[in-house]
Amino acid sequence: MLDAMLDGPTATIDLLALDHNLARLRRRLTSGSGVLAAVKADGYGHGAVEVARRLAQQGVAWFGVATPDEALELRAAGIAGDLLLFGPCRDRASLQRLAEADVAVTIVDEAGLEAVRGAGLDRPLRCHLKIDTGMGRLGRPWPDAVELARALDREPRTALEGVWTHLARADEPDRAPTLAQLERFEQALAALRRDGIPHGLRHVANSAGLLAFPEAHYDLVRPGIALYGYAPSPEIRALEPELRPAMTLQAPVTFVKRVPAGTAVSYGGRWTASRATTVATVRIGYADGYPRQLSNLGSVDLAGRRVEVAGRVCMDQLMLDVGDDDVVPGDVATLWGPAGPDAEALAAAIGTISYELLTGVGRRVQRRYRGD
Ligand SMILES: Cc1ncc(COP(=O)(O)O)c(C=O)c1O
Repeated sequence: MLDAMLDGPTATIDLLALDHNLARLRRRLTSGSGVLAAVKADGYGHGAVEVARRLAQQGVAWFGVATPDEALELRAAGIAGDLLLFGPCRDRASLQRLAEADVAVTIVDEAGLEAVRGAGLDRPLRCHLKIDTGMGRLGRPWPDAVELARALDREPRTALEGVWTHLARADEPDRAPTLAQLERFEQALAALRRDGIPHGLRHVANSAGLLAFPEAHYDLVRPGIALYGYAPSPEIRALEPELRPAMTLQAPVTFVKRVPAGTAVSYGGRWTASRATTVATVRIGYADGYPRQLSNLGSVDLAGRRVEVAGRVCMDQLMLDVGDDDVVPGDVATLWGPAGPDAEALAAAIGTISYELLTGVGRRVQRRYRGD
């Protein structure tokens, strides 16, 4: 038994692990770079408010989010740091709310600037210009980014306080694509300088960029996954093996039965007992964020032993083949975490990444915090 009685699935977040990971990342920073912590998607499933509060106590000044609601949630909870909205926002009401909440927004094109002009704001909106240097997702392409920068600089309703880009391949062994992105970013910055446009804060590096490319640190770094204790790729893990997963996902056993050989378990009868064994039912399923692809594949830590998922993962429950172990309802299964299966390895086994597992942890999963 790894935890006190649980009435349902629980994600326990170790705030000391967040502190530790932040400290590990800070040790890598070249002179003077600040940290902008990516806390979008509810802090990668860890709880954005609690994560931001903790990191703010550790001196993190900036937080990055994906949607206006995520920014406003942080403000409503009293997070006073600088907030940056990574994605574009063209909705007038949202822009007004963001301005009132003193959130910085990302401008990716002329339409974004037009939206700010039309939003009827009573003070200049804090803006960061997003330049596309090779990610191909959002942003003004680097060769003519200076034109949008000029328009932002001249516009009285915007305050240009930063310029940024996003790296697409910094987690890969081949360094060339990232070096090319950095070169393009430099070209864009040089064009701004030639025009006398103050670029303000420059920021580029996600976790992989931070760990693998010191030349990408600039004024701010924007780590996400590494703060939560995971690496974006094995190559990056090798650069910083000391990261500690902050989340432990657990759920209680709710039912235990002894079954004879030949007993089928779960939808589709895809698992059949090959011998007499004990099957334990656990109160977590794919609606809570335990992926259905781990049917007949995942393993779980139960009372210090690794046991296999038996049959299909259901919406709210899964079954374990616990053999002849003495398991009773109320025992706690650890689905992933530092003392259980590795979320990175589970993700790899089903062709995805730790990010998807962490952000998929559902709303029915209670969050608990340790390390206050
Ligand atoms: C704009 C931006 N910056 C930083 C990050 C953090 O990336 P990572 O979690 O790989 O460190 C993300 C996440 O995808 C992002 O979208």
